[in-house]
Amino acid sequence: MAPLLFRHNRPGRCVTFDEYRSGGGFTALTRALQELSPLDVQQLVMDSKLRGRGGAGFPTGLKWSFVPRNLPGPRWLICNCDEMEPGTYKDRVLLEANPYSLVEGITLASYALGVRHAFIFIRRGYESAAENLRRAVAEARGAALLGENILGSSFSCDIDIHVSAGRYICGEETALINALEGKRANPRAKPPFPAVKGLWGGPTVVNNVETLANIPDIVANGPDWFRSLAATPDSSGTKLFCVSGPVRNSSCFELPLGTTLGEIIDGPCGGMLAGREFKACLPGGASTPYFTKEHFSVPMDFDSVAKAGSRLGTGGIVVFHRDICMVRATLNLIRFYARESCGWCTPCREGLPFVREILERLEAGKGETGDIELLREHVKYLNYAFCALAPGAMGPVDGLLRHFEDEILEHITGRRCPFERRG
Ligand SMILES: Cc1cc2nc3c(=O)[nH]c(=O)nc-3n(C[C@H](O)[C@H](O)[C@H](O)COP(=O)(O)O)c2cc1C
Repeated sequence: MAPLLFRHNRPGRCVTFDEYRSGGGFTALTRALQELSPLDVQQLVMDSKLRGRGGAGFPTGLKWSFVPRNLPGPRWLICNCDEMEPGTYKDRVLLEANPYSLVEGITLASYALGVRHAFIFIRRGYESAAENLRRAVAEARGAALLGENILGSSFSCDIDIHVSAGRYICGEETALINALEGKRANPRAKPPFPAVKGLWGGPTVVNNVETLANIPDIVANGPDWFRSLAATPDSSGTKLFCVSGPVRNSSCFELPLGTTLGEIIDGPCGGMLAGREFKACLPGGASTPYFTKEHFSVPMDFDSVAKAGSRLGTGGIVVFHRDICMVRATLNLIRFYARESCGWCTPCREGLPFVREILERLEAGKGETGDIELLREHVKYLNYAFCALAPGAMGPVDGLLRHFEDEILEHITGRRCPFERRG
């Protein structure tokens, strides 16, 4: 498959503005402003069946259609580049190679939504990606592709880049909105959803970097073409899969949405490192239930992964080899989530440290058989948290219970971690 999002990439460096333009960049924006109404652009995105790449897979065109068009006052678009989920680094890879598709995608989305001012909320530490974006925004402004009366049309729009204060919760869309307003980054109650009442009370769309970077090609080539790129009939487009762990080639790959897990591991990843055997992976970032070798035939698209008991999430695949203790791996993740809980709601604030303590006990060989039931109950209870952080955090715990209960039991009966002395 010819790459789509990585089409403009140059080896070892960021593509330039001139190279992006000579490769067809900004033709979609030009076409839209000359030939298409804002609702036409929204309809193209709707027909493309593009689903959000930030984790939840919500249909992008549908989200845009919730924005009321008759309210007075400004509407807002926020590009979510917080990307603090362990194992996920696709947006950074995309922006370090090419910031222009995102700038063009944001401008097109702003045109469709009637937004005059868009924000990119970017993770602190993504310095070179932020630098590329600042340069791309300045170049686009200089070429009348951003700012007042874009390409001589009546459409005006600008983009601000906001660097996050640096907490995982800032990626949750309503906490992000609070952060952007200068408030403490606690999530807000939904409804009202941001599309109706978001930033400074105005209708607001929050979309992921990868989602928005797809928009220029959808507008340029049409929804049928976009849908044809996927490997499974109900999916559309490509997906950035960023892989880490003991595979030969751990990198970020652009592949048809619906490529199977086995095809990813044995294909571009080149299989496992010598002497290492595949045991499990987090298929879609740190907040998704584990897959095992049995899942190699599962197409990595939103519906197939959900049907197989996990989530496609961000497409961040973290691989574990046979000698990794899955209790310890899960404990490591829960330590992150317990630390990153914003403390706003009791199930998350109290529940995650409690789950961490159970896993610490098990790992130290001090667990009891009742701990398994306690963990199971908490997978259920933490679904009642205020936002999706705690239910997501329990994803790996859920996977641990479903696929590695024997390992938990070994810790309890052996009174020690059975993996202690292995590499
Ligand atoms: C704790 C938490 C962290 C999140 N972090 C991110 C993130 O870093 N980037 C992102 O795009 N979405 C993140 N999300 C999902 C966003 O809330 C939102 O669904 C997403 O930005 C919507 O974009 P999309 O529709 O294009 O996928 C996070 C959600 C939660 C609950």
